[in-house]
Amino acid sequence: MIENSIVYRNFKGKYEFFPLSKAEGAELWDRNGKHYIDFTSGWNVTNLGWNNPEVNQAVIEQVKKNVQGLLWGSDPIQEAYAAALTAALPKELDACVKETGGTESVEVAIKIARTYTNRKKIIGFSNLYHGQLFASLALGNAPGTPEKLAPLVPEITQMPFPNERSGKESFDQFVSELEKLLSKEDVAAVVTEPGIITGWGSTLVAYPGFLGKVRELTKRFGTLLIVDEVGTGFSRTGKLFGIEHENVIPDMVVFAKGISNGTVAIGTVVGQSKVFEQAFTDAVLISTFGWTPIACAAALKTLQIHQRDKMWEVAEQKGSYIMEKLEAFIGDVVVDVRGRGMEIGLQFKDAETCAEVRRKAFADGLHVVVGSKDNMQIMPPLTISQELLDEGLGILTSHLGL
Ligand SMILES: Cc1ncc(COP(=O)(O)O)c(C=O)c1O
Repeated sequence: MIENSIVYRNFKGKYEFFPLSKAEGAELWDRNGKHYIDFTSGWNVTNLGWNNPEVNQAVIEQVKKNVQGLLWGSDPIQEAYAAALTAALPKELDACVKETGGTESVEVAIKIARTYTNRKKIIGFSNLYHGQLFASLALGNAPGTPEKLAPLVPEITQMPFPNERSGKESFDQFVSELEKLLSKEDVAAVVTEPGIITGWGSTLVAYPGFLGKVRELTKRFGTLLIVDEVGTGFSRTGKLFGIEHENVIPDMVVFAKGISNGTVAIGTVVGQSKVFEQAFTDAVLISTFGWTPIACAAALKTLQIHQRDKMWEVAEQKGSYIMEKLEAFIGDVVVDVRGRGMEIGLQFKDAETCAEVRRKAFADGLHVVVGSKDNMQIMPPLTISQELLDEGLGILTSHLGL
């Protein structure tokens, strides 16, 4: 029984089991025929809508040509995708590693950083999510990670994320702590999301200038900056990539999730070839299913649609609209609304109220998730129609007074 599967049981008690029968655009249907408006995008995956017909068609066309690549060679669609992705990024980022998802790509980025710098230490931020394998867990410290999993990976430590709500003084303190740590010149890399927490769902936004400051300090002390864009990438936050908010050029950027709109598994680390060079000899960077031609066909079409339709502008506009609607409810029940683009957090006075509102909205046909305790994470497909967006917001806001 799927309902008793290990995967489902992670969410038991938190969310209702969802027997999915159909998914299209910003709408889902369960097997009883009940209809839902989707405010999750499968957690920042289907940014261009569920079963985007253009992306699916690109996969169908590629299936007729070739579905699997070679570890020691490349298919034309893999080359086309590498060219398109690197062209969309700052020119310094000119090489890609072929991976299958976010966690794998984060771990590979750490390997590259250690081989390039000859240093061991890695700094991450508490309560960011980078995946479920050991280094990723050590980086972000999943709330509630069982002690039984310890030890995680040595030499990976965390700092508190400098939340903008904590103010300038707290940010200044963060900067001087980071400077102190990096000045020992023994840190291989700092790993972070680009200024907003999307993974664990707090949607905390960093103090303005956070990423730029981290870039400045890492550069000064020979530490690499790895930016995890698994959640923020592909227009979600109102820019094609989150690093554009502060025009930062990291040493490596990690992508997955929205990269192929959820059509086929794919992930990547994009960085400078001179940084990758050492890893090709000192670490083995291979993944059998990394960048299959079908995944590349999906990813290439996904990127082309984002660029053709300037989806980041859509995210910016609809995001401001959603924020404005929700901000009107700030009071005793909803205590904060924050986010960037269409990655928005609705913070409730407590976890029970948040869970209750989610449960009621779900019963009324709004598919929405609680990101972390008291924070509801709102991330509709960017392609959602104004009508469905209003309908979904109507369901949600009807419960905000409780
Ligand atoms: C910010 C971030 N990094 C990394 C990951 C891990 O990606 P994956 O689930 O593809 O391994 C996620 C997944 O939720 C994420 O949100």
